Amino acid sequence: MRYRTTVIGSGYLGITHAACMAELGHDVLALDVDADKVRRLNDGELPIHEEGLGELLRRGLAAGKLRFTTSYREAADFGDVHFLCLGTPQRADGYAADVSQLDAAVDALAPHLTRTCLVVGKSTVPVGTAERLAGRLQGLAPAGDRADLAWNPEFLREGFAVADTLTPDRVVLGVRTPYAERVLRAFYGPLGEVPVVVTDFATAELVKVAANAFLATKISYINAMAEVCEAAGADVVRLAEALAHDDRIGGRFLSAGLGFGGGCLPKDIRAFMARAGELGAGEALSFLREIDAINLRRRDRVVELARDLLGGSFDGRAVAVLGAAFKPDSDDIRDSPALHVAREIQQRGGLVSVYDPVALDNARKAYPELGFATSATEAARGARVVLLLTEWQEFVRLDPAELGAVVAGRGIVDGRNVLDPAAWRRAGWQYRAPGRP
Ligand code: UDX
Repeated sequence: MRYRTTVIGSGYLGITHAACMAELGHDVLALDVDADKVRRLNDGELPIHEEGLGELLRRGLAAGKLRFTTSYREAADFGDVHFLCLGTPQRADGYAADVSQLDAAVDALAPHLTRTCLVVGKSTVPVGTAERLAGRLQGLAPAGDRADLAWNPEFLREGFAVADTLTPDRVVLGVRTPYAERVLRAFYGPLGEVPVVVTDFATAELVKVAANAFLATKISYINAMAEVCEAAGADVVRLAEALAHDDRIGGRFLSAGLGFGGGCLPKDIRAFMARAGELGAGEALSFLREIDAINLRRRDRVVELARDLLGGSFDGRAVAVLGAAFKPDSDDIRDSPALHVAREIQQRGGLVSVYDPVALDNARKAYPELGFATSATEAARGARVVLLLTEWQEFVRLDPAELGAVVAGRGIVDGRNVLDPAAWRRAGWQYRAPGRP
C-alpha cells in the first residue's frame, strides 16, 4: 500500500526517512522550518555526508515521489501519515532532553489536521512523551481523536543510515489503536520480512534508549578493562579478541579506545538517567553515570599519552590530530571525542593541526581557533606527535615510513587501536595506545 506521507523535520533522520520511504514507493513531502535548507534539498543538494543518501534524494526528486516544503498547512493537506523526525538534544541546563522542537511541530501541524490521519513519532524521547503529545495533538486538531498517534523509534547508525532504514533488523510499533497498527504494518509492508514488535507507547519509547544505553555500556565496559590493562601491563585489544569468541558476549561494540561520542549515545544516556530520576527509578540507572564517566576519562587518557610522548608538556609543540568526525564515514562532529582532545591539547599550549577527510568544514566552523590542514601529511608535517582519533580507512592505511619522513618527532598515539604497533615501532615510531602496553 502506498501512502501520502509527510516527514516533519529534515535533519539526519528526517532526510534519510523521507528519501528511503520515497524509494519504497510512498509519496513523500518533507518539511523543515529552514527555508534555505528546503531550497537546497529541492535542488538535490544533501547537507550531510551519508553514503548512498544523495543518490536516493535525487532519485526521489526526479521521480516526483519526494519534495520539501516549509508549509505546515501544505503538509497537513498532503499527508495521511505524518512522521515526526525532530531533534531532541541535551538541554543546556542539565541532563534532560530538550523536546521543544517536537512540541512546536505538533503545535504547528495539529491545527491543520481536519481528516483522519496518523502522526508517528520517530525521535528519541523521554518515556511519557508520546502520551503527552497524543493529548496535545487531539486537543488541537479539528479532526479530534481521528488524528491518532503512534511511536516508531528509529535505530539508524550514521554512515549506514540508508541500509539501516531499508533493511532494519526490527520495526517497533508503539500503538494504542488497531487503526495505527494496521496503517503502520501496511506502510512498512514494502520492507518485506522484518520482525515487528508491537508495544504500548512507553515500551516503544524505552526500546530506543535501552538499546543505546546497552551499546554505551558495552563500549565503556571494554574501556574500563582498558584502564585495568594499563595498570596491570596487559593488552586490551587481545583481551577483547578473546572475549569476543564467547558468542554470548560477541565482538561488536567491544573496541577499546577513545570512546563514544556523536549526537545520540552521550545525550541519550544522560536523558535516560534524568527521566528515570523523575519517575523515581533513578537508582536503576545510576550505573550509567559511571558509563559516562569512564567514557569521558578515556579522552583525558589519550591527552595524557600524547603529553608523555612529548616529555610532559604541550607548550609550543606542533601536534597533528587525524580525525574530527565522531566516527568514520560521517561528517558529524557533535560531541566528537577527537575534537574534544584537539581542543584540550590546544588549551594546554599545543599547536594543533587537525585533518579529517569530510568533517573539516564543520570542524572549522565550530572551532575556528584550532589549526587545520588539507591532508594527513600536511597535518603531520613538522609535528612532534601525531594522534589518530577517528579511524578513517585512509588513516588506518597510513605508511609509517612515509609519515615518519615529514614529522619532527616520531611519536604516535593510536586513539582507536587500529594500527599495527609492530609495524610503527619497526619504522622508528614511539607507539602509544589506550589499554595497551
Ligand atoms: C547510535 C546507535 O548505534 C544507533 O542505533 C542509534 O540509532 C543512534 O546512535 P551512531 O550515533 O551513528 O548510532 O554511532 P555508533 O556507530 O553507535 O557509534 C557511537 C560512538 O561509539 C562512536 O563515537 C564510535 O566511535 C564509538 N564506538 C563504537 C567505540 O568507541 N567503540 C566501539 O566498539 C563502537
